[in-house]
Amino acid sequence: MIQKKQIRLDKYLSDCTPLTRSQIKADIKKGQVTVNDIICKDPGYKITPEVDVICHKGQRLNYQKYHYYMLNKPAGVLSATEDSEQKTVLDLFPADIRKGLFPVGRLDKDTVGLLLLTDDGEMSHRLLSPKKHVEKTYLVHTAEALCDEDATAFSRGITLKDGTLLKSTVLKIDQNDPHIAHVTITEGKYHQIKRMIASRKNKVIYLKRISMGSLTLDENLPEGAYRALNESEITSLLSNNNLQSH
Ligand code: URA
Repeated sequence: MIQKKQIRLDKYLSDCTPLTRSQIKADIKKGQVTVNDIICKDPGYKITPEVDVICHKGQRLNYQKYHYYMLNKPAGVLSATEDSEQKTVLDLFPADIRKGLFPVGRLDKDTVGLLLLTDDGEMSHRLLSPKKHVEKTYLVHTAEALCDEDATAFSRGITLKDGTLLKSTVLKIDQNDPHIAHVTITEGKYHQIKRMIASRKNKVIYLKRISMGSLTLDENLPEGAYRALNESEITSLLSNNNLQSH
């Protein structure tokens, strides 16, 4: 028989609540945590996450091995975990949540919008794998008006100035303003959208990521704010349906 993994009660609470270590210890000591309906005041008590029912202040906790957050990245911060001089996206998270998190891919410092942060390396790897062709949609504002020839060139496949031939992409120009478009790409080349627009002798003046795979930026999230993904967003991202290999 395979033995199910056991972990300490305080570690369990730390994994599935945003509480600090000292809050967890205090709440356990105060008798606010139950294991299978019995108050447990021992932070080191060993529990089996798949089997035991843990409640905190009467609320049943769901064990989450990994954590997933969407951030509406503001301009001016780096998509990195740390930097000696500049502010990073991790600096937008409190220390307790930040542990183990990293951004899934990068947005340029001046790009805003959807950035997924997680401690799930496998999911990150799958989302970023070139073989998976995960769609990323961006809202683009350009210095010059976009035209039908640009859309045609995008759909034929843009050749960048360094000779790189890109896959066919959809450039959907806004009907009311030709300086605005949505672009959906499946590759993730360095500065890809800016270089694609530059190849059409135009310039990106604003870039916002709207979606990545099945995940869409929550319109209620102001720039600089984050929220945990809900269960259906996580299930959908983890399902292979939107991460097909070709
Ligand atoms: N393409 C870019 O040029 N910049 C980004 O940040 C993302 C895609």
